[in-house]
Amino acid sequence: MGVTIRPARLADRERILAISSQIWEGDDYVPHVIDEWLRMRDSEVAVADLNGSVIAFARTVSLAPGYVWIEGIRTDTASQGHGAGKALTDYFIEKAVREGAQRIGLSTYLDNLASIHIVERYGFERKASFILAEAKLDGAARSAAELSPLVSAVPFDEAKAWILGSAATAMSCGFLAQGWKFWPVTRPGVVSWPPFDRAIGVRSSKGSLRSLLVVCHPDHGEGEVTIDFADGSPKHLEALVRHMLALYPGVRNIQTMVPAGNGIHTALLETVTALEFDVWRHGEPDVFVYERAVERQR
Ligand SMILES: CC(C)(COP(=O)(O)OP(=O)(O)OC[C@H]1O[C@@H](n2cnc3c(N)ncnc32)[C@H](O)[C@@H]1OP(=O)(O)O)[C@@H](O)C(=O)NCCC(=O)NCCS
Repeated sequence: MGVTIRPARLADRERILAISSQIWEGDDYVPHVIDEWLRMRDSEVAVADLNGSVIAFARTVSLAPGYVWIEGIRTDTASQGHGAGKALTDYFIEKAVREGAQRIGLSTYLDNLASIHIVERYGFERKASFILAEAKLDGAARSAAELSPLVSAVPFDEAKAWILGSAATAMSCGFLAQGWKFWPVTRPGVVSWPPFDRAIGVRSSKGSLRSLLVVCHPDHGEGEVTIDFADGSPKHLEALVRHMLALYPGVRNIQTMVPAGNGIHTALLETVTALEFDVWRHGEPDVFVYERAVERQR
């Protein structure tokens, strides 16, 4: 019998963890989130079964009415290439059709060729590209932490309005990263924001907001934060990133996705490079957001 897909049960938890432990040398985020995934509403974990054993899993969550996000797709290394990844993708597209969603999104990494192959085969299109940068607890960037008198807290509503009008949001095609999840913040009718932890900015002497940085907690890691948005002048960006590093001294990892594409990127790349964040792939766009309309004929 071939691969069959069904919703995960609590009894699948151990098998899911066993599969996850094989991925990225056990550094997968799934163990941190699986209990919440299995509990949450507006979310489904599905498993692929081959001859009575679970060989793969993935999850969808609704980021907004009509907007579905797929994440966490993993196949047991011994069972890759048997069609589980495709079957899970197909299952979630069918589910989105049934539930009347308008769009499905997901993100993947540059060298994840099997994943890119599958999503392109299922009609997903690359909509936005980003450059991943990180400041680990023992990384050089953390010594740049410094509170700045120029920086102050920004009310979230003001921050959101500023983000919508910013050049960085135009370059990210309207997606705001929260870790590996990308929220469509500018779609007419389907606008959805990640939960902000902090918004900080630099204002002009007359009080208008000149530069802004927003921080969230990714839902996959305690002790991690993400810079989900940063835009402004190079001098302000440096002050904002240093200030932010000082506000989160003990966190294990600080991650950001710098909007990029067509050979250009936002000024945040120069800032995080100068502050010695780890920039993967030397600044080449390496994280991609794919999207697919649900009503599309297959
Ligand atoms: C991505 C992943 C889930 C795919 O699962 P899978 O069960 O092996 O997928 P399938 O068997 O359904 O399909 C694999 C497809 O990728 C293709 N493929 C595999 N390796 C490839 C490569 N290096 N380059 C291009 N295509 C590749 C296969 O040919 C197949 O496509 P085809 O049927 O059209 O020939 C699996 O590789 C995995 O768990 N990877 C580690 C976790 C991960 O990276 N998850 C994605 C995070 S974004």
